[in-house]
Amino acid sequence: MEALLKLRAIFPENFNAQFYIDVINGLQSEPKHLDAKYFYDAEGDKLFQQIMNCEEYYLTDCEMEIFRQQTAELSEVIMQGGQPFDLIELGAGDATKSTHLLRDLIKQEADFTYLPIDISSHVISTLNATLPLSVPGLKIKGLQGEYFEMLKKAADISTNRKVVLFMGANIGNMPVADAEDFCEELRRNLNPGDMVLIGFDLKKNPETILAAYNDSEGITKEFNLNLLRRINRELGANFNVDTFHHYAMYDPETGSCKSYLVSLKEQVVTFPDGEEIHFKRDEYIWMEISQKYSLDQTKEFALRSGFKPVANFFDSKGWFVDAVWVAE
Ligand SMILES: C[S@@+](CC[C@H](N)C(=O)[O-])C[C@H]1O[C@@H](n2cnc3c(N)ncnc32)[C@H](O)[C@@H]1O
Repeated sequence: MEALLKLRAIFPENFNAQFYIDVINGLQSEPKHLDAKYFYDAEGDKLFQQIMNCEEYYLTDCEMEIFRQQTAELSEVIMQGGQPFDLIELGAGDATKSTHLLRDLIKQEADFTYLPIDISSHVISTLNATLPLSVPGLKIKGLQGEYFEMLKKAADISTNRKVVLFMGANIGNMPVADAEDFCEELRRNLNPGDMVLIGFDLKKNPETILAAYNDSEGITKEFNLNLLRRINRELGANFNVDTFHHYAMYDPETGSCKSYLVSLKEQVVTFPDGEEIHFKRDEYIWMEISQKYSLDQTKEFALRSGFKPVANFFDSKGWFVDAVWVAE
């Protein structure tokens, strides 16, 4: 508490106490880790855009192909007759893929409001400002905050049927057990008849997967290092990012792709309140998981969390699936 007051005095304008607590707790854990949701400050958003444009990062192309080439089929499954509905997108990012769906729904004269949810205020202010111009006729209400807090807020705003998009294989950014809990929590926040569309990256050739998280231009490395830079910028720490090496690995048995930052030397990182984090040489920070699934696993997820699988949309290579489930 004393430490927090001290930090607030140093950073009166933009000090994010929860960020500080999560960072210190993560770096004091064994093994050290950082929460991937903090990757996305304005700089992280930009780097993620570059990752999505990388040759090796196939995920965006696969899901983009689904949203471009199967738009009418997606609209049909989502609209379910003519009743008004709320289209909620969890972790909307730049909404490039969903924009194809939004345009088609407007063309089909669907009666809906788009509620993008994102923890990044930069993302939400940009979407609120730009989408009404690029998608004329769109009703939009961006919600900045955590997934479930904002989902509850969306339920308070209207009683319309909900259709929740959770794309970009964001569900893969949690260990399997957490992803199961996430689906259960999602179900608890919905009513029977509500719908979810979840993008899962499917298991495939391990080399293809690993390359996506270890691109030759080093953008993924910069994306990871940016979180250390963000901690320096916003929390006044003194990470020397040149002394950390980015390491990515994929285990085809478990389907887990993980990335780490490995300390190249023994060192101490300090925070303005005097907090010190010690690194041994070769000690790592676990930064991110990108879990890959089999199609059967996605079906099991639906059934065990109270959803009925109703449709699967695949890209032409069969590398990615947008699974549509209805709450029972
Ligand atoms: C990997 S990007 C994906 C963006 C988009 N869905 C896509 O498919 O291209 C993840 C987005 O989720 C947001 N995000 C991550 N964790 C979040 C959380 N716990 N609550 C709300 N938004 C979150 C990030 O800010 C980021 O914009």
